[in-house]
Amino acid sequence: MPNGETNSLTMDAPHPDSLLDSGVQGVISRPIDRVDGPKKVSGAATYAAEYQFDDLVYGFLVGATIGAGKVVSIDDAAVRSMPGVIDLVTDFDTFIRVAAQGGETEAPTQGVKQITFVGQVVAIVLADSYEVARDAAMQLNVAYERSGGAFDFDKHREEAVEPPSDATEAHSTQGDIDAAMAAAPVKIDVTYTTPSQNSAAMEPHASTAVWEEDGSLTLYGAYQMPTSDAQQLADALGLDEDKVRIVSRYIGGGFGSKLGIAPESVAAAVAARKLGRPVKAVMARQQVFEATVRRSNTEQHMRLAATRDGRLTAIGHDNLCSNQPGEDYFEPVGIGTHKLYAGENRSITHDNVPLNLVLSGSMRAPGEAVGMIGLECAMDELAEALEMDPIALRKINDPAQDPEKDVPFSSRQLSQCLDEGARRFGWDQRQPAGARREGEWLVGIGMASAIRSNMLMESSAKVEIHPDGTATVSSAMTDIGTGSYTILAQIASEVLGIPVDRITMALGDTKDPPAAGSGGSWGAASSGSAVYLACETLRGKIATAMGVEADALTLKDGAAIGDNRSVPIAELVGQGLEAVGHIKPGKQEELTSQASYGAHFAEVGVNAVTGEVRVRRMLGVFTAGRILNAKTARSQCLGGMTFGIGAALTEELIHDTRNGKLVNRDLAEYHVPVNADVPQLDVHFIDERDVHANPIHAKGLGELGICGAAPAVANAIYNACGVRVRDFPITLDKLL
Ligand code: MOS
Repeated sequence: MPNGETNSLTMDAPHPDSLLDSGVQGVISRPIDRVDGPKKVSGAATYAAEYQFDDLVYGFLVGATIGAGKVVSIDDAAVRSMPGVIDLVTDFDTFIRVAAQGGETEAPTQGVKQITFVGQVVAIVLADSYEVARDAAMQLNVAYERSGGAFDFDKHREEAVEPPSDATEAHSTQGDIDAAMAAAPVKIDVTYTTPSQNSAAMEPHASTAVWEEDGSLTLYGAYQMPTSDAQQLADALGLDEDKVRIVSRYIGGGFGSKLGIAPESVAAAVAARKLGRPVKAVMARQQVFEATVRRSNTEQHMRLAATRDGRLTAIGHDNLCSNQPGEDYFEPVGIGTHKLYAGENRSITHDNVPLNLVLSGSMRAPGEAVGMIGLECAMDELAEALEMDPIALRKINDPAQDPEKDVPFSSRQLSQCLDEGARRFGWDQRQPAGARREGEWLVGIGMASAIRSNMLMESSAKVEIHPDGTATVSSAMTDIGTGSYTILAQIASEVLGIPVDRITMALGDTKDPPAAGSGGSWGAASSGSAVYLACETLRGKIATAMGVEADALTLKDGAAIGDNRSVPIAELVGQGLEAVGHIKPGKQEELTSQASYGAHFAEVGVNAVTGEVRVRRMLGVFTAGRILNAKTARSQCLGGMTFGIGAALTEELIHDTRNGKLVNRDLAEYHVPVNADVPQLDVHFIDERDVHANPIHAKGLGELGICGAAPAVANAIYNACGVRVRDFPITLDKLL
């Protein structure tokens, strides 16, 4: 096979033409079933915990039982004598802080295990079965010395610091918000709080580590970003990057918790190296809660000032979050507030209270998912103070260009989403707060805008056309349940005119071209562009082989058509063709303001006797550039809206403020919404193309459905019963 050439594009300029618009193959955007579906439902898709090896050793992690202090000694004699126990490893100094995005490797501390949170991994016990390893781990005798520790957000709030981050601006101000607030005829000055949350992916974190003869490591894990995860793992183990391969083909949900490596990966790797045997480490559910990442709690001080006709003159969104001492990462609560509404005077700030709790990291639309609660509930409060319709208030403040940077929006249809949603949902039926009662139930409707930043991340992919006319797409991109396998196959199919069932997808392996993986809603656009660019090159090669201009070529159903001839693609590719596509963000990122938009609508019943809230129906209307698969896109939004119900009503991590222990650390006690909580959800997309975003004209969609869903529910609750709860989740005790 000839060497594949690379088609590289940096998004410095708009890219108006897209081969996807020709619609010749007719597969792009169609709601086709997931190509990986049959493998998943038949059990043929191998997840991280399912890899088997002949001499496999099972490892079980041991987590610290104190929140701050150090390990004094580990008495392992009893555990070592247990039948089936092979060994244990406790020298984890070099990686005790490795976890998640924002986590850093701490310098070795000479055999002293500094403990900074309950559940921090201090050992892995190795045995010939999972059950023995677990039993032994639970009996391991670890002696600790407690010291210090900050566990109570309210008690330590005065110690808040500006996150020491260069990469992201934690504090941004414009104009004079205090003066604008003082001068405004109508204003809102309120504080919203949201609790810590857990991603709660169904699949627990799991790794199987296998060392190869040449000293390299293969780790079968469940990771969202294998390319950067392999780098993190190499760092933690003191290896060269090219010595670590991560295989992460199927992932049972990530929601941010699998963006960065979690401790089981390093533990399995260190143990496997020591034993010279493959080691599998699967986290128990409680360990996932305690030792991966949480979303920080937030305290959102909202200030809105407006003229009497509803024009915003000031927007303040000043946030207090929490993270481990010294950590850079902060929940970017105000990220959507930068772009959403007009208003001259602005303050959007983030400070972190250092706490010895689970590391804070990215979870399900970090920023907007919780930030929209403060902003969109405060907008509802402002609409009421103005005696104005909440949608009219938003539309009058829908800016013509980015309200902070002097650049145009790449594409934006917020007002269109608001109007279309109002029409479909029956917004004109809305009554004043507390006015609609059906028996015991007070019924109300509410809405909120949706915004999620759009990001393009450097990614690459290889596409091969084989001599038989079939094709293979390979990349270190992942599918975390989102539909990547399917949409990438659709893009290749549409450009190459090769039916989807003749395209083999190979994702989730760092031996293939590097990619940014799945996170931040950038996966489809980034990897989709890489696949597109590879196919564009292949299309040119087919044209050359056929002797026609690329413009005059039509590729459809496995045939190349042009110059009044139709030739099977298989006859034009010789020994096979391959090309690599490579996309990089460029100047368009600075020259345009890029985000996906939408509007959420909710109808709820609040029981007048018990305070119970039932969501009755929801509608989300979204714009996210080109929709690549109408079915998987809808499913993404349904999932996001479901998590919005969770944020509004049920999800709350509770830490014991005396010692940092996580009180509710499983899915029985940490309540993600279940079927009984989720009514009919409707999703509607408004057609859009974004030529500034990337060559496939798609924008981020994966997390858009959650951004604004919770405040729509909260605003509906207020409309139902006239009680404004500012402390989330809105549990029934707060409504009575
Ligand atoms: Mo997402 S929280 O960036 O996986």
